[in-house]
Formats: sequence, C-alpha cells, structure tokens
Amino acid sequence: MRNIFSIITAAAIALLTVSSCCSNSEYGYKIKNGVAIYNTPERPADQISMISFAADPIDTVRVGFIGLGMRGPGAVERFLHIDGVKVSALCDLYQERVDAVQDMLTRRGQKPVAGYSGEEGWKELCDRDDIDLVYIATPWLTHVPMAVYAMESGKHVAVEVPAAVSVDECWQLVNTAEKTRRHCMMLENCVYDFFELTTLNMAQQGLFGEVIHTEGAYIHNLDPYWRDYQGNWRYEFNKAHRGDVYPTHGLGPACQALNIHRGDRMKTLVAMDTDAFNGKKLAATYGESEYENGDHTITLIRTENGKTIEIQHNVVTPRPYNRMYMVEGTEGFAVKYPYQGYSIRTQGREVDGPADIEDLDGERFVSDDVRDALMAEYQHPITREGSLVETAKKVGGHGGMDFIMDYRLVYCLRNGLPLDQDVYDAAEWSCLGELTRVSIENGNIPVVMPDFTRGDWNKVNGLKLHLK
Ligand SMILES: NC(=O)c1ccc[n+]([C@@H]2O[C@H](COP(=O)([O-])OP(=O)(O)OC[C@H]3O[C@@H](n4cnc5c(N)ncnc54)[C@H](O)[C@@H]3O)[C@@H](O)[C@H]2O)c1
Repeated sequence: MRNIFSIITAAAIALLTVSSCCSNSEYGYKIKNGVAIYNTPERPADQISMISFAADPIDTVRVGFIGLGMRGPGAVERFLHIDGVKVSALCDLYQERVDAVQDMLTRRGQKPVAGYSGEEGWKELCDRDDIDLVYIATPWLTHVPMAVYAMESGKHVAVEVPAAVSVDECWQLVNTAEKTRRHCMMLENCVYDFFELTTLNMAQQGLFGEVIHTEGAYIHNLDPYWRDYQGNWRYEFNKAHRGDVYPTHGLGPACQALNIHRGDRMKTLVAMDTDAFNGKKLAATYGESEYENGDHTITLIRTENGKTIEIQHNVVTPRPYNRMYMVEGTEGFAVKYPYQGYSIRTQGREVDGPADIEDLDGERFVSDDVRDALMAEYQHPITREGSLVETAKKVGGHGGMDFIMDYRLVYCLRNGLPLDQDVYDAAEWSCLGELTRVSIENGNIPVVMPDFTRGDWNKVNGLKLHLK
C-alpha cells in the first residue's frame, strides 16, 4: 500500500514539474517542459469557418462610426470620397466630438446624420437597422465588446488596431464572426502602404525566390501624444502591461508576405524586453513610479513551414519613426527603413575570377532607377483601379494608405468579395500582445500559439486580394 502511495506521489510531483496550469480558461495555456502551450478548442457545432467568406453584395454601404478622437474623424472624411457609401450615424463618448464631425459633414455639403454620445450610445448606433458596417476607432479595451455587439446586431465590423488585447478576446471575435457570419476586419492600414503592397506583389510573383524571413515593427516615439489620448487610455494600458502591446503594424505586412493562414501559420514565439527605463520617466510625469511596458520589446516567431519573423515595439525612445519592414527570400531582399531598397541576386556584381575576401559589396541594392522601374512594373493590381493612387494621395491618411484600406473594404463589400483581411488575421496579429507577455513574464520561454483557424490554415494557397 505504501508503495502504491509513493508511486502516486512521485508521479504527481513529476507531473507538476513538467506541467503547470496557468490559465483556467479553455483558451488558456499550460506550461510543459518550459514551453507555454496555448489550447485550441474545437469549433462549436453552430459555427462555420470564415476562411474565404464573402457576404452578399451591398449596393450602398451604410456606415456608423464609433470613436471620434484623433483617428475617427479622418476616417469619416475619407469615406466621403468613396463611391457607394452613406455615412449613417456617428458616436463618441462626448457630444461635442459628435457635433464637430456633424459640422464637418455640413461643410462638405452633407446633411447631419444620427448622433449618439455617452458610455453606451454605441449600442443604440449598433441597434439601428439602416447600418451595414460599424467602424470602431475607440480605445483598445472597448474594441471587442463593441465589435461583438455589432456583429450580433447583424452588422459587419471594421475595428482599429489592435482588434483585441487578449487571447480570450481574440477568440470572442473569431467565435462571433463564425456564428453570425459577419465580417470582422481589423483596420491594419500599413499593409496598404505603396511600398509594402508593391513588395507583396513582387513576393507573390516570385521575385525574391522563396520568402524565408520577414521583419516589422512599431517604433514611434509617442512623447508628444501621450496626454492627447482620451482619459490617458494608452498610457494606462502600457503602464500595466509588458509585451508587444501594439504589434499589428509590423506583423501585418510581415505575415502577408509569408501567406500566414494561406498555406503557413505562426507556430512558436519567444519575446524579450528591456527594462522600462524611459517608461518609468514617463510614469514620473504622471506622479507615478511603476511602469510595466519595457522600452524596447523584441519577438521572434517561427512558422509551421520553417520561416521566421522578427517584430519590435518601442514608443518611448527618441528614434525616427520605423516600421522595420523587411522581406528576405532565397533570391532577393526588400527593405523599407531607413532606405527603400531591393536587392535581387541576378542584379548583383558578377564574380570574375577568385572572390575578393575584402570586398563586402558583392550583394548590393539595385540602383534607384532600377528600383523605381521595378516598383512601376510590380505595382499591385488593386492599386491600378481607376485613379485610386491619385485620389489616395490627395485624400491622404498616412500618405494614402488609410484611403486605400477604406476603399478596399468598401469595394469588397459592394462586390460581395472576401475582404483582404479576415477575422483570423485580426486575431493572429492582435494576440501577440498577450503571448509576448506570457513569454517575457515566464523568463522568455517559447510560446506555442493557438490556431485561430482550427486547422484551416492551409486550405487556401496564398493570400489573394480579390478583384471583381
Ligand atoms: N491604424 C493607425 O494608423 C492608427 C493610428 C492612430 C490610432 N489608431 C487606433 O485608433 C483607435 C483610437 O485611437 P485615437 O488615437 O483616436 O484615440 P483617442 O483617445 O484620440 O480617441 C478615442 C475616442 O473614442 C472615444 N470613446 C471612448 N470610449 C467610448 C465609448 N464608450 N463610446 C464612444 N466613444 C468612446 C473617446 O471619447 C475618443 O474620442 C485606437 O485603437 C488606436 O490604436 C490607429
């Protein structure tokens, strides 16, 4: 008897040392042998995969906007330049922000539209039956409650970055989209930057051979802006969270070049951060001393097909803006910051005779002329529609990419096409916030990522941005 007892005790201790439970949620993780492994629960019977989902075409897309702070009003204005759109309703916590956008509409020759304010005004907006799309540009913690409610009210959703702040929230978006069969697109604008779009096209046409590694980042000193966020929501979030809390601008283009969940998937990551050197100085300006978010956070991701991604985040040191966009293939290379350049193997210097060990210049960037010619040749087909590029440059929004994003969203809805970014992109790109924190807080351990597609990541062969 004593023998059986000691065997059971020894087995229990052994089990505890290799496996400890770190979250009670079905969407949580367990640490086994020093690796955090996220659970991917079965898809409930009443849900259908949203891979390649297309809704019925909508002739005129009627839009309700929630959140009219620094970001929202520009979106309303951009929509006025898109055919087949009706701005139907506006909402913000503050009535005066709604009024200011109503004034802008009047100046543009539009009639005032339905307006809502207060903590819960957005629910009334979502409840309206004359809205097809709810466009959310509010603080991070409100994204998922609003998006879920809007989808459950039968609306398609476009939600600002990051779409969600936890893995649990990412699953809420996926489950609700799958259940309601409504689009949920994250408004990741950086994938529509001219350089990124052109480079994506080059990658898809095989100019870089097999793409094996990509990089991206959000490096932007936010010193001038911290106090402009309503209720200091961004400072409060960063103060309370380690990890890459704003990963999607870097990750979006990096994932698209690797066809993530269109033939490959992100599998494991490891993250590391610096201490909060400047973060604590920022906290001191608020009369506080604690600050969690490291000044610089680095994440390495390995994919199912053996590719790698590096993502960085830094919003507190005095560096020039940098999204670190980089695509590396077996035959070529593209980089955006600080210099927009391409290097293609066949364009390199011919080696004539024995190699010169002192010559480090064997591979180099193509000349600016060759680069410009390549960019013209490989301009992405979605930007060749009508006068889109000229209009985008005129209307603006981060140099035009915001306009192309909104235009594409409306174009796909009007033509009944799958959207460029689906709910799985929103979840995969947003979940890094929690996963990097888990890696960092457990001594930089590997984290096995959940599969939001539940095994459907290789059902589609390559990312497609649809045209009618
Ligand atoms: N894609 C980009 O390039 C980009 C750039 C800037 C901001 N963003 C994102 O846009 C979002 C908004 O950022 P911002 O800079 O405009 O912040 P902000 O603080 O200036 O604006 C947020 C607005 O939401 C409103 N709001 C808060 N709670 C609300 C509620 N319950 N109901 C209705 N309105 C509510 C606030 O009053 C405020 O006007 C964030 O998710 C941010 O990450 C994206």
